Amino acid sequence: MKTRKLRDIEVSEVGMGCMAFSHGYGAIPDERYSIEAIRGAYDAGCTFFDTAEVYGPNLARSQRGHNERIVGKALSGVRDDVVIATKLFLDAGIGSTYRRIRKHLEASMERLQTDHVDLYYLHRMGSTPIEDVAEAMGRLIDEGLVDGWGLSQVGVDTISRAQVVTPLSAVQNIYSMVERDVEREVIPYCAEHRIGLVAFSPVASGLLSGKVRSTSQFEQIDDVRTWVPQLSERNLKANMPLVDMLESFAAQKACTPAQLSMAWMLHKNDNVVPIPGSKNKGRILENLGAAEVELTEEEFAQLEAALDKITVYGHRGFNR
Ligand SMILES: NC(=O)c1ccc[n+]([C@@H]2O[C@H](COP(=O)([O-])OP(=O)(O)OC[C@H]3O[C@@H](n4cnc5c(N)ncnc54)[C@H](OP(=O)(O)O)[C@@H]3O)[C@@H](O)[C@H]2O)c1
Repeated sequence: MKTRKLRDIEVSEVGMGCMAFSHGYGAIPDERYSIEAIRGAYDAGCTFFDTAEVYGPNLARSQRGHNERIVGKALSGVRDDVVIATKLFLDAGIGSTYRRIRKHLEASMERLQTDHVDLYYLHRMGSTPIEDVAEAMGRLIDEGLVDGWGLSQVGVDTISRAQVVTPLSAVQNIYSMVERDVEREVIPYCAEHRIGLVAFSPVASGLLSGKVRSTSQFEQIDDVRTWVPQLSERNLKANMPLVDMLESFAAQKACTPAQLSMAWMLHKNDNVVPIPGSKNKGRILENLGAAEVELTEEEFAQLEAALDKITVYGHRGFNR
């Protein structure tokens, strides 16, 4: 697969979000299936895998690290050929910011069966000043424990304050055809400063695949789709013109709607890398296939024009 750079970190053009093997989309597959699915993605050319310390059933504290363990097992035999990204939540606590971050990092490294993390993100801003976090991340980079660092769900104000202390490799924000806030300031700022924009929920939690037709498909426990704004009963119906447009465009292009939605963001931005999530082996491979879908300038312009005419119902935004 073609690759892109997140500052100096080279990753496959489409990465893989591993969250759903532990959290966020209802019942989780058994571990063996999840491991095979991750290895299947690697065999198909994916070299960029996204996890987080909190991804575990119901985000329960006692289940912390569930997802990192699966990712660690799946990639242990190919560790040097892949980029593993994980994230920490920084609680207020005793000790220096560096010490507190390092404690989280060491626990993640143990679960991931590795002696370094390629890309280490602060999952959300907390009460610790961003400059202190950036300084601590710089120290971890100097020590070789982390290759690059990033922030998630942040605006340019936070990114630029962090960037002057320790340059960032990536910002991981929500970005899809129905969540485009980052196009205004964040993506241009990141492009100017060699920062990759890692797009999470690029398929809008399934909406842009065309396969979500009813909220009755959602599960009652640990399923983010029950609160994703574009997927409420009313908004799901109202968003069908967008899905219909994507389906007919994708049919002409002989690809799937999910692939088309990611090919669109790849064409539009040189510094964007989507990390679609799925707990289904076949759909994981389908999503990686987005990297093969090339849009001509004319097709891209048609798609942009069609998107401009369609109202999107529901908005999550990146400041949460
Ligand atoms: N930084 C953050 O705060 C943050 C927040 C959320 C997520 N993330 C990361 O981003 C990754 C992706 O985000 P996400 O999983 O929320 O959203 P997503 O990739 O937009 O959508 C995942 C949902 O869409 C469905 N889906 C995906 N591809 C499909 C296809 N080709 N056809 C039909 N259905 C498809 C999946 O169902 P199936 O499983 O049934 O295929 C699942 O229900 C996560 O795994 C995680 O690593 C980060």
